[in-house]
Amino acid sequence: MPALSLETAWLRIRNLRPTDLPDFHAYRADPAVTRYQGFDVFSREQAAEFIAQQTHCEFGHPGQWVQYGIENQRTGRLIGDCAICLQEDDSRMAEIGLTISPAEQRRGYAKEVLLALLDFLFGLPDFHRVVETVDADNAASIALLESVGFRLEGEFIDNIFFKGRWGSERQYALLHREWEARSGR
Ligand SMILES: CC(C)(COP(=O)(O)OP(=O)(O)OC[C@H]1O[C@@H](n2cnc3c(N)ncnc32)[C@H](O)[C@@H]1OP(=O)(O)O)[C@@H](O)C(=O)NCCC(=O)NCCS
Repeated sequence: MPALSLETAWLRIRNLRPTDLPDFHAYRADPAVTRYQGFDVFSREQAAEFIAQQTHCEFGHPGQWVQYGIENQRTGRLIGDCAICLQEDDSRMAEIGLTISPAEQRRGYAKEVLLALLDFLFGLPDFHRVVETVDADNAASIALLESVGFRLEGEFIDNIFFKGRWGSERQYALLHREWEARSGR
């Protein structure tokens, strides 16, 4: 399987590169970005190590999370990253995640990326379902998922001890048939 590379109107989704380090570290070191995520703020060394691990990862290995850079096509700068993990025991399903740098939020970029990821995944043969798990307090992420048609499947109450307190998580999902109906196909 070749490296994943997707182009949207303004953005390019492609593997992280060592030259992304300054932009990547700037937002991954921001507590507002990591607040609802399963990782804490990154040091520059952690950011460099993470990019080095991800640079040569390929799409198509079930059970493996691959993090992709989101590049502004006009400036060449990294504005965020997104991740896909094909389900280990059934690669017709996947979990995704998405981060946009605070300086670039509320411009429609996350929605543009999410629609491109969904178009790509649901274009794979027999692809069935995409899920995302979000913190129940993560209003931005919830609004994003609902804006593209994800359906709330359930909320787990105080199910995770997270950054010093119990937190609740919601699971959202989108099926291939729901995507087709939404796209008017
Ligand atoms: C969630 C996140 C990716 C959204 O990125 P974004 O580029 O600002 O989102 P967009 O501009 O594409 O907005 C998408 C939709 O969500 C809504 N939205 C975005 N941020 C919002 C907020 N803070 N509050 C309410 N709605 C919000 C927008 O209005 C839009 O809805 P619409 O199309 O119906 O108008 C971004 O806030 C982020 O990176 N947060 C930190 C990381 C994180 O928690 N990621 C989720 C864990 S996987």
